[in-house]
Amino acid sequence: MLSHLTLSHFRNISSASLSPSEGINLILGENGSGKTSILEALHLLALGRSFRSRHLKNIVQLECSQFTVFARSSEMTPVGLLFDIQSGLQIRLNNAPLKKLSDLAVNTPLQFISANCHQFFELGPKFRRKMIDWGVFHVEHKFNYHWQTYKKALLQKNAALKNKKPKNEIELWNQYLLKHGLAITEYRQAYLEKMLGIFEPLFHKLCPSLSMCKFTVRYNRGWNKEKSLAEVLDENYDRDRIMGYSRNGPHSADWTLRINDASAEEMLSRGQQKLFYLGLCMAQIIILLNEKDVKNTILLIDDLSSELDWNHQKTVIDTLRNLPVQSFITSTNNELATLINKENEKVFHVKHGEMTDS
Ligand SMILES: Nc1ncnc2c1ncn2[C@@H]1O[C@H](COP(=O)(O)OP(=O)(O)OP(=O)(O)O)[C@@H](O)[C@H]1O
Ligand SMILES: [Mg+2]
Repeated sequence: MLSHLTLSHFRNISSASLSPSEGINLILGENGSGKTSILEALHLLALGRSFRSRHLKNIVQLECSQFTVFARSSEMTPVGLLFDIQSGLQIRLNNAPLKKLSDLAVNTPLQFISANCHQFFELGPKFRRKMIDWGVFHVEHKFNYHWQTYKKALLQKNAALKNKKPKNEIELWNQYLLKHGLAITEYRQAYLEKMLGIFEPLFHKLCPSLSMCKFTVRYNRGWNKEKSLAEVLDENYDRDRIMGYSRNGPHSADWTLRINDASAEEMLSRGQQKLFYLGLCMAQIIILLNEKDVKNTILLIDDLSSELDWNHQKTVIDTLRNLPVQSFITSTNNELATLINKENEKVFHVKHGEMTDS
């Protein structure tokens, strides 16, 4: 849990310092006031990258040369980032420089729910793969090793295909793709089944009007379901050579949930699609608790009020209260502050980059 956050020269925020609650933190303000920037800073701290700028220099406040983000967790582990336009990014965890950004991700599991999360079904397989891989990464110790090794082998194979190397040099990589690809596939499948069991009752609570709906997982492993991965890699050789890359495998997997055996995408309204996505993220937080006893997940919800009516916003906040998660929720709707329990939850107001808490 973060107990303290300090920012300087981060977007329109010249300087801000906040001590969030361990549970719900509401960040209210008008358009352009700096709410999403606070979430962006937290995302950067936990994962080492922003969700909206590929180039960190764009985050640096106009006419400044560097930004800093610093946080202290309740376990007293200080985490700090400094980005300088000249000298780049420096990360420190527990007062020691950090080389690998993935170490930071293990330290603080964080989920970001964007304002357009209701577009879950439209955002493409990469988005959906990333979502479950986040969960598997945090629950299955070996997943990252398999995924990184698979990715390296795929890169090598694609380079060999592109450069029209001899067949034996191309097929050399298949043994790695098979070994690690099958491990990734199994981890994902088991995780999806687990997620379904937790998601369904949670969604019924978030969206009582659909409490009769039954969900099923539809998982596309990334290759023809009638065949083994070994067969597909073998059969695809000629086509992959022409294309210059290896098309099938767990790197092109996809998944969705169906409702009463119909397409969830067609059946759910926009608001229900947002609740669907929120439910999936909450289910992932519960899996982390059940499997790894993780109680320090951070959940960032940007613009809770978009797409959701008052009662559903209230249900989301009530549901979050019962989860082991520290949440940061932005909204332009000041009325939301009335739902906050001032004793153990906090409301922050942002105005032209200045923060105050109430
Ligand atoms: N590098 C920068 N330097 C200074 N200001 C910036 C920089 N990048 C963005 N801004 C400004 O910072 C402000 C913060 O934007 P942010 O997205 O955090 O607002 P928001 O409160 O989430 O608004 P909305 O409700 O519209 O989503 C905006 O006014 C934006 O124009
Ligand atoms: Mg915003």
